Amino acid sequence: MSPSATGPVAPSRVQLGMPTLPSQIPSRSSVAGGPDTTGPDPSRGLMDSFGRRATDLRISLIDKCNLRCTYCMPAEGLPWLSKDQLLSAAEIRRLVDIGVNTLGVRELRLTGGEPLVRADLVEIIAALRADHPDLPIAMTTNAIGLERKAAALAEAGLTRVNISLDSVHRETFAQLTRRDSLDKVLIGVEAAAAAGLTPLKINAVLMRGINDAHAADLLEWSVTRGFELRFIEQMPLDGDQQWNKEGTISAAETRELLSERFVLTPTPENRDGAPAERFDVYPLGTSAEEIRHGRQGPPLGRVGVIASVTEPFCADCRRTRLTAEGRVMSCLFSNEEFDLMHLLRNPATTDAQIAQAWAEAMWLKPAAHGTDRPGFDLASFHRPDRSMSAIGG
Ligand code: GTP
Ligand code: 5AD
Ligand code: SF4
Repeated sequence: MSPSATGPVAPSRVQLGMPTLPSQIPSRSSVAGGPDTTGPDPSRGLMDSFGRRATDLRISLIDKCNLRCTYCMPAEGLPWLSKDQLLSAAEIRRLVDIGVNTLGVRELRLTGGEPLVRADLVEIIAALRADHPDLPIAMTTNAIGLERKAAALAEAGLTRVNISLDSVHRETFAQLTRRDSLDKVLIGVEAAAAAGLTPLKINAVLMRGINDAHAADLLEWSVTRGFELRFIEQMPLDGDQQWNKEGTISAAETRELLSERFVLTPTPENRDGAPAERFDVYPLGTSAEEIRHGRQGPPLGRVGVIASVTEPFCADCRRTRLTAEGRVMSCLFSNEEFDLMHLLRNPATTDAQIAQAWAEAMWLKPAAHGTDRPGFDLASFHRPDRSMSAIGG
């Protein structure tokens, strides 16, 4: 079944480069009862042809950002979308309604660019909360400006935030983000914690020769404050297109860097489709024996490692993404996007037609990120034309 089937409701398919090749992870024959040839059906939610069902909706509110992280955006920025190209507050509200009421969405994450740059952010959250009193609503942010808005966001109904912070050393932060803004971020982090936007998680990307030597410092800083730090392997989604696999600090290398100062033990809980593998953090010198017998006292905190490149977690993926201009991205690495905006802006379109179009777009979700082997096989991988800042993470 193709999403470009005839009729006014078909989402238009936007080909952005080479199509993502289906992969062996997962395989269609792994779907219970054999290959699923039934096709998209909104009554089964956002199911793909491999039997995965997306229940985690991530909406990019705006493509703009006030930092220029080297792993994400070029120094000069990107051609930003104009205001009328962005999903409006009413359109976001309608899409979330359709997602939750018809398509089985169970959690929402607001992303950017930088979502705090969007002037009507508090109003958007208040409206979503009024519509969905029990929906977990999280936001991924760089925390610049959070000092002024954290209390209002919590009051409006935001549940929690994840904050991107790669270093607590001022020069290193400035080198990575191309902005001398560490102080603003740290004040934002404090404000978020004080406003109860918790559990608060910190996202960090390690870059070889820049902040990798500071990985343990960042963990120390995070556990001392009760935050869960997650290290994300750098993915080929940088605006400068400089990514290479050799330069990527792997999850294994990250664990090694941390074990110079801490003892990490895998947490007992089921990972449950989450990108991060989580570890309890103990002081150096704690023995496995002590931990096993519970003689060492509680852990200092937790750390997560998101191994998107070397240990992909695509088989359990539950994510569906909407870009700031209203396109469905079934995968972070999709080269095909499905435009819902023209449907939203056609007064004749019904909610059922939008649900159908969204389900059709998700049915075509690739097995994994464009390779037929675990990890990035550079020979067959075609990076999406978008940088992370335009997708939202
Ligand atoms: P919580 O743990 O529930 O807070 O959510 P989360 O892990 O989804 O948090 P967040 O949005 O901060 O995601 C962390 C990072 O993980 C993202 O910025 C991405 O870099 C990476 N990530 C999230 N989802 C995917 C995914 O589907 N594929 C890949 N390859 N990476 C992902
Ligand atoms: N690889 C991995 N993570 C990235 N992020 C941005 N660009 C990349 C990339 N190329 C992360 C940021 C932020 C989240 C939205 O995505 O650190 O926490
Ligand atoms: Fe899901 Fe694509 Fe990320 Fe894999 S790369 S976890 S399929 S979004």
